Amino acid sequence: MIDKVDSHRVATSDDVEVSTYLEIAKELHGEQLASELDVISPAAREAIAIIDFGSQYSHLIARRIRECHVYCEIIPYDAPWEKIASLQPKGFILSGGPASVYEPRAPLAPARIYDSHLPILGICYGMQVLTHQLGGQVASGTKHEYGQAILHISDEGPPLFTGLPSSLPVWMSHGDQIAEMPPGFKALAYTENSPTAVVGNGTDIFGLQFHPEVVHTPQGKTIIENFLYQICGCQGTWTPGSFISDSINTIRQQVKGGRVICALSGGVDSAVAATLVHQAIGNQLTCIFVNNGLLRREEPERALKTFRNNLKMNVVYANASNRFLKQLKGVTDPEVKRRRVGQQFIKVFEYQAAKLGKIHFLAQGTLYPDVIESTSLETKAAAKIKTHHNVGGLPTKMALTLIEPLRHLFKDEVREVGLALGLPEDMIWRQPFPGPGLAIRIIGEVTKERLEILRAADWIVMNEIKKAKLYRQLWQTFAILTDVRSVGVMGDYRTYSYLVAVRAVTSEDAMTADWARLPYDLLARISNRIVNEVPGVNRVVYDITSKPPSTIEWE
Ligand code: XMP
Repeated sequence: MIDKVDSHRVATSDDVEVSTYLEIAKELHGEQLASELDVISPAAREAIAIIDFGSQYSHLIARRIRECHVYCEIIPYDAPWEKIASLQPKGFILSGGPASVYEPRAPLAPARIYDSHLPILGICYGMQVLTHQLGGQVASGTKHEYGQAILHISDEGPPLFTGLPSSLPVWMSHGDQIAEMPPGFKALAYTENSPTAVVGNGTDIFGLQFHPEVVHTPQGKTIIENFLYQICGCQGTWTPGSFISDSINTIRQQVKGGRVICALSGGVDSAVAATLVHQAIGNQLTCIFVNNGLLRREEPERALKTFRNNLKMNVVYANASNRFLKQLKGVTDPEVKRRRVGQQFIKVFEYQAAKLGKIHFLAQGTLYPDVIESTSLETKAAAKIKTHHNVGGLPTKMALTLIEPLRHLFKDEVREVGLALGLPEDMIWRQPFPGPGLAIRIIGEVTKERLEILRAADWIVMNEIKKAKLYRQLWQTFAILTDVRSVGVMGDYRTYSYLVAVRAVTSEDAMTADWARLPYDLLARISNRIVNEVPGVNRVVYDITSKPPSTIEWE
């Protein structure tokens, strides 16, 4: 059973590990997830519903809308109507998707969207869906159109194109075209291969053959903004400040006099979630910080200082370093290391939580990318794997209700909220750090001595990267202690010491990564300092492999 605590290679929230352990703990005991709280009351904000037909770009549509300070959610096309209605949307966006609308069983939008008389913007497949459902005809185009095209606006019509020139570059990716427009619709813009690149009903239903959400349509955001502000009548009230006050109100209403626990990991997501909950309910929240002995130098002290001294939060600090180290004794297999760390975390967390008496809620820093429901088969499968690993769960034997105040936020929004809550910049911009910590950056056995060597080397890497002002630009930067030893010479003595590797990568989401082209003199400084200042190390190498084929971590 315990084998379920295995590795994961997808990290969206940067302290997913804690949630993962708790999820597994829950599964081991066959518990059901108690009903989860949606912390924002829909009535308090304007929203757009993105009806998802499986486009790889749906999350980009959401990003663009949020950048316009309008709240939105991605909802699968086959979701129950109640789910859409509960958002109380001011308009709909129908996403792209891989299907052809004239094929049998092609996904369609719920008919009630059209009955709602709210504005609709169909993008690519979304445009074909609305054409088909409103009585027009879609057929396979004679010429498929992929890549850049020039859009010529032929009819200013409703204010979708306000602020735009009459011709602009757009990004196309489609094979199907409108053969016959629905009654009342006309073409508003064309490209060389698409006479109906933009269509509209004259008031509030539009179809775009191109993708306004991608960077290759440089003025796409203006089109989206016009749709939101001019057509749907949005005001742009979605800001970190409004999110915080909405969340605080809802948390208060839902928690009432109950008690909440939260596992802090030192990562930004759990920190922001806990701070938000703390602002709402103060000392009804107790945080548990487990020091597994695998953290970087000064990390537990800094986190404690922030939460206890600066934010005045109730934090139970469990220094379980020795227990973790004992579990790792003699272990060299990376997956076994992960399992042992996971098992131990659950034990320590449960033990500490049990001492607190009756608890009603568990707060977690789950993010939107961890929970986005998807419609394509591929992403559904991926989502299932991720769900198992990333989306939070409950400690055993405790009937707790989940509070996930960040479950609708993207990472950069979490950072904005964290800053608005007054969390220190260091914490907000912390690079992701794996749950098993330094255990998977020590090749071979993890011992107290080897941890000290790695901590000292890692400290120098961080210090130099920060001094060079590269910390924020890099996804992750760290040292690895290998089990290789090589010959060196120091003064008159021959040495036979460890090899340390330095890894610095750029990445958007950890799925792919490239090694960072760090300046040579920076690498030289890092190398000199490590061999001079860290006893037991006499050689430093720089990892110049990308992901794939390598991974970011070495284990
Ligand atoms: P890889 O090494 O697979 O890492 O390229 C991708 C991202 O995931 C992080 N990572 C982990 N995070 N537990 C975690 O919480 C783990 O076991 C784990 N393994 C890798 C890694 O740091 C990178 O950000």
